[in-house]
Amino acid sequence: MKIAILGTGVMGRGWIAQCAMAGHEVHCHDSNRASLDGTIEFCRTLAQKTAKKFKLEDPEIGARTAARITPHATKAAFIDAARGCAVLLEAIFEDLALKCRELREIVPQLPAEVYFWSNTSSLDIDVMAAAAGRPERSIITHGMNPVPMMAGVEVVPGKLTSAETIEFARQALLEMKKAPFVAPNLPGFWVNRLLVPQLLDAFRLLEQGKIKVEDGDIGMNTSLGHPQGTYKMADFITLPTALRISVEMYQATNDPRMYPPQILVRMVKNGEHGAQTGKGFYDWTDPRNPRPRDLSQYLLKTTDDYLDSVK
Ligand SMILES: NC(=O)c1ccc[n+]([C@@H]2O[C@H](COP(=O)([O-])OP(=O)(O)OC[C@H]3O[C@@H](n4cnc5c(N)ncnc54)[C@H](O)[C@@H]3O)[C@@H](O)[C@H]2O)c1
Repeated sequence: MKIAILGTGVMGRGWIAQCAMAGHEVHCHDSNRASLDGTIEFCRTLAQKTAKKFKLEDPEIGARTAARITPHATKAAFIDAARGCAVLLEAIFEDLALKCRELREIVPQLPAEVYFWSNTSSLDIDVMAAAAGRPERSIITHGMNPVPMMAGVEVVPGKLTSAETIEFARQALLEMKKAPFVAPNLPGFWVNRLLVPQLLDAFRLLEQGKIKVEDGDIGMNTSLGHPQGTYKMADFITLPTALRISVEMYQATNDPRMYPPQILVRMVKNGEHGAQTGKGFYDWTDPRNPRPRDLSQYLLKTTDDYLDSVK
């Protein structure tokens, strides 16, 4: 099939590589030109890494994947290409108002049969489907990072999503060797409903000086089998995305467990965004050997420290 993907960040690129590896023709766009321009090379490498991980002998996979991707520099060109696609998948920032604004503009310009998929981590499909104006053909397909290596995809139908739309998504995902599962349309669905409070608690315990990054990750890895542990996983999610998810889930639930901890806000403000920027909970100078950082500057000690932290 042909698929149009809006957003070429961490997840957009994952989906672009995944779809192209599966033989689909992919059209993509991002408002950040540098991100768009780096997409083909990133996906070529990701396809090769995925083949290596799954022990596939396929020296051509990178070139084949790259050849199926067309980046579009302008939104108008992207919309034009999306008119000929079966699916529009959005993977832009986790910001409900921003997503709705884009959907209100783009989706009405597409033929009525084009499905709308969203890769949101936590947002309400009914609100986005209403903005897109075709609720029966709208659904969440929440992939995990990195998409080609992680089988799970949360499929979240809205109130008006048709059975045919669910089945189309399920079949398309199965054909891509994904493992779709249906989750409820609650803030965070199933995976992030459980994961996000855990992540944010881990950040809070860290800023209170109660746990060290390395101990926390060894603990979750060796006790619960989480391959990366909590802090390393956060570095891959990227801290700005973790912050956006936290803010959106707090707004949607008013649950204090979802309120973003100071350490998260301060690290994002300081440009310590995780593996991508070289610094997060770990120092990623050598990506094969990330080292837990000294984060003592982020410890909350006194009321004055707390007040200073929000200047
Ligand atoms: N990072 C993760 O581990 C993860 C996992 C699952 C789902 N998600 C979800 O996937 C979505 C994308 O997250 P991400 O991690 O790829 O974020 P990201 O910040 O890496 O990428 C988002 C991209 O969207 C682009 N963008 C923003 N506004 C745009 C617009 N108006 N038009 C076109 N492009 C625009 C940005 O330039 C950026 O390249 C979010 O909804 C997020 O919650 C993230």
